[in-house]
Amino acid sequence: MTPDQHRAFIAVDLDPVLRTAIMDLERALDAAGVRLRWIRPENLHFTLKFLGEISSAQVARVRVATREAATGVTPFRVTLASIGAFPNVRRPEVMWIGVSEGREGLESLAARLEERLAKQRFPAERRQFQPHLTLARIRDTRDGRGLAEALEGFRAVSPGSQEVRAMIVYESRLSPSGARYEALEEVPLGNH
Ligand code: 2AM
Repeated sequence: MTPDQHRAFIAVDLDPVLRTAIMDLERALDAAGVRLRWIRPENLHFTLKFLGEISSAQVARVRVATREAATGVTPFRVTLASIGAFPNVRRPEVMWIGVSEGREGLESLAARLEERLAKQRFPAERRQFQPHLTLARIRDTRDGRGLAEALEGFRAVSPGSQEVRAMIVYESRLSPSGARYEALEEVPLGNH
């Protein structure tokens, strides 16, 4: 019997136009010597809440909490901003692109989710929420060497903007070719 465990998270999808812009940016970074294993374009998203391994009953409660969190929220714009890394560009483990316009909107969605999920007895996130789009995870520290210097020319990148109209409850499934994210429910923002 397969265990009733689902690796779940809630995210905002990247618009297809921005996805293309990110792919162009990654090609330019490759050409500038930033040779990383990029996240597959179809997997790019802004995570709002990572839930980890949860049961089907918990998935059902996550869906309810997400619908509640979306109610009454007006769709808003996000603009992608500069490139950065966690924990920092000198010791990069995660390379990401940040958000300028729309930061508060994403922060507010994450806070609304935390509040509704706490009522459903999900543990609160201890780390401060930082809106970002992960472009690459760096497992080998050698791949991250020289990143700070290589990124100098990309300080002012601006791949564009998009409208945030929905949150998606995702299940992450591991397959031999990497993680595959399956949308369990798309929850539109607004009154419903
Ligand atoms: P990310 O947004 O920084 O890439 C699915 O794994 C998503 O959940 C990823 O996008 C990932 O981060 C996010 N996430 C947050 N915390 C995580 C954790 N502890 N383990 C795995 N993924 C996590």
